[in-house]
Amino acid sequence: MTRGVRDGGAMSATGFAQVLTVAATSTFIVTIDGPAGTGKSTVAHRLAKRLGLEFLDTGAMYRAAALAALQRGIDPSDGPRVAELVRGMELHFDWSCDPPELYADGVAVGDRIRTPEVTRAVTPVASNPLVRAAMVHAQRAIAHRHRRLVTEGRDQGSVVFPDADVRIYLDARPEVRARRRVDQLRTKGIETTEAEVLAQILERDRMDESRKDGPLVRPAGADIVDTSFIDIDDVIDRLESVVRECAGARLDGRGPDPSRAAGSTGAQP
Ligand code: DC
Repeated sequence: MTRGVRDGGAMSATGFAQVLTVAATSTFIVTIDGPAGTGKSTVAHRLAKRLGLEFLDTGAMYRAAALAALQRGIDPSDGPRVAELVRGMELHFDWSCDPPELYADGVAVGDRIRTPEVTRAVTPVASNPLVRAAMVHAQRAIAHRHRRLVTEGRDQGSVVFPDADVRIYLDARPEVRARRRVDQLRTKGIETTEAEVLAQILERDRMDESRKDGPLVRPAGADIVDTSFIDIDDVIDRLESVVRECAGARLDGRGPDPSRAAGSTGAQP
């Protein structure tokens, strides 16, 4: 994967109208981390659009690796074989789509990375340190070309971009996340119970938080936003204010607020 990752290079459909003055000469990275069911993807994508930044869904990259393993009959828990597979994969985004479309070995992965089977398989894949190393490298390479970015995942503010301009951690109560997931599945015609989904969510949290490499943590200096009882539009408004405040601080020369500085978690990008 590392060697195979390339970047479509095209400009995204979005412009940079509102933050261009801030970011024209340098990078501007907003990281959004948090567990599943907090509305992270929707929030990150809409925030990026609102601010004229680009959007990176890093979960999609792990999902594409899990899908590839399943397609080749490789056990997702077989660490060495999955790592070998991922190292040989060519992953890139087509940035002319909104959101950017992920291609694995030249084929658009589409919704095939969102099936329950892939969701189950991705946990061991994302716990594989060799896979994580390749993904971290790939994500930094993407940010090198797409320098004004909202990136979302589990380790973006803690490991991949610890010096990001803005680090956000979205959270929500497990019961609320379970209810959202049940509603989401129902719209797809899949009936399940809240108890069942809650058990899956708690297990996934446990795995994400306890893995050795890139565990789900609250990044140092992150703004923590609990979305349990806040409407998604209000969450986006709130994050927009946080981002604009940071951008303003950079513009007027105040620089980053030291109280928001990252700790020593993870490597430098
Ligand atoms: O956000 P998601 O559900 O699409 O993520 C898919 C899986 O990948 C999930 O098990 C968490 C993992 N992941 C990760 O470990 N690190 C990331 N930066 C993004 C996702």
